[in-house]
Amino acid sequence: MITFILNDQLVRTEEPAGSVLLDFIRYKARLMGTKAGCREGDCGACTVLEGHLENGEVRYKSIVSCLTPLGNVQGKHIVTIEGLQKDKMSPVQQAMIDHAATQCGFCTPGFVMSLTAHSLVPKKSTPEKVIDAISGNICRCTGYRSIKTAATDISRLLAQKEMDDPLGWLIKKAFLPEYFRNIAGRLKEIQATTPDANDGKIVGGGTDLFVQQPDALIKTSLQFSKAETNLQTIDIKDSFCRIGGAVTAEEIMKSDLLQHYFPRMKEDFRLISSEPIRNMGTVAGNIVNASPIADLVIFFLALDATVEIKHKSQPDSTIPLREFYIGYKKMKLHPGDLITAIRFPLPEKILFHFEKVSKRKHLDIASVNSALSIQMDGQVIKKIHLSAGGVYAWPFYAEKTVRFLTGKKLTEENIAEAAGILLSEIAPISDIRGNKTYKSLLLRQLFFAHFHELFPETFSAEVLYSKMLAV
Ligand SMILES: Cc1cc2nc3c(=O)[nH]c(=O)nc-3n(C[C@H](O)[C@H](O)[C@H](O)COP(=O)(O)OP(=O)(O)OC[C@H]3O[C@@H](n4cnc5c(N)ncnc54)[C@H](O)[C@@H]3O)c2cc1C
Ligand code: FES
Ligand code: FES
Repeated sequence: MITFILNDQLVRTEEPAGSVLLDFIRYKARLMGTKAGCREGDCGACTVLEGHLENGEVRYKSIVSCLTPLGNVQGKHIVTIEGLQKDKMSPVQQAMIDHAATQCGFCTPGFVMSLTAHSLVPKKSTPEKVIDAISGNICRCTGYRSIKTAATDISRLLAQKEMDDPLGWLIKKAFLPEYFRNIAGRLKEIQATTPDANDGKIVGGGTDLFVQQPDALIKTSLQFSKAETNLQTIDIKDSFCRIGGAVTAEEIMKSDLLQHYFPRMKEDFRLISSEPIRNMGTVAGNIVNASPIADLVIFFLALDATVEIKHKSQPDSTIPLREFYIGYKKMKLHPGDLITAIRFPLPEKILFHFEKVSKRKHLDIASVNSALSIQMDGQVIKKIHLSAGGVYAWPFYAEKTVRFLTGKKLTEENIAEAAGILLSEIAPISDIRGNKTYKSLLLRQLFFAHFHELFPETFSAEVLYSKMLAV
């Protein structure tokens, strides 16, 4: 039995935990405002709000219902377009009308829900943040100019939100209907246990699994990692960071603890999927998906992360992420093994840089991505870690380049020689995202870009350009 609140109605259902929320909303609850478009997380037509209890308050975020298994909505508040105002337009809907931001209307409920999710973020809106909020929504007929103008208008209104009682303000301004006031109390009454939380197939956010095999998962026994509270935290202690396996990309991106060490993190993570997908996809899911361009893996490989594993039939173990992959989509993990966390050293003086190049800036996977962390001792490289995606059959840790640079002086000559070593140890293939020569050249540029960004006074663009020609 799965229990959740859908708009203002309590739902108890025996539907399989692996059936998707979109189908429940449309074909069981008969709420047809939520649209089925791509069913792959790309178009945003199926966007809804998901609210969960946190310290007695309900925190909302946008999710795509087409990739959300019912098992992940146990104990949650799900809001569809029908759950907004009934007799009048909310300011979000009104702004869409005022700016002629809708034509056929197929995408419109998704945009409205993403913008409403943005109104619920416990921080003040900015024009940049409001555009981020609709990064997962595609419109095929109106054109984005009028949608962006509507979004900017909404952001202007939200900038006046009263932060001492944001929910009260949103209700007063008709962003939300009155029933939202009681949701926290009602959620407390629902037991937050998940169905099948035993030994089935592990599901994180479902953003890979439910693209690949949605039909099969309806009949499969599933285990939901997000139901395990010890997999949900980010902790920094004794110069080590531990991120639970069920922590999402968005939670990492917005972590105040991590901003201190990675000031560019919000910018970097903005290049990863879209806000609703980041709200769902977990770090462990990204590791086990084992895509050669998996962004989170590339990020954490360059921090020399270790994977913590709870095995089914042997004592728990840890394994360095750089030793985790053993072939294309092959890794040192047995069926049923649960990744509980990743862990990495976080010394105060660490320098870190991430680069991702894709055909489209947002909602696209990388052609090539790369990350580098470095610790200096004066002019000498004390420790360095370098990763690259899209240039090998699995997320690549540049072992030979790292070995060469460790203990060396940070000079143009050493960096140029290291670039040559890097290109000799990768094995890119030609595919839809570029041929192998292009990917090699791209990685070389990204490698130089790391040093240019981290040491701009030593490695100016002109100096690096002359070195590039030599490699
Ligand atoms: C539209 C779209 C855009 C995307 N864009 C990007 C992108 O830009 N960059 C990128 O890197 N990825 C992208 N992805 C891929 C995906 O979002 C990420 O890989 C995400 O991190 C997967 O996490 P999940 O929790 O959703 O995985 P799930 O789908 O839940 O699981 C994936 C795999 O991991 C296993 N698994 C999950 N949790 C655990 C655990 N704790 N222990 C052991 N096994 C586990 C599952 O059994 C499954 O085999 C995109 C996906 C979509 C749909
Ligand atoms: S239907 Fe396209 S994102 Fe869900
Ligand atoms: S209004 Fe037709 S797809 Fe956006």
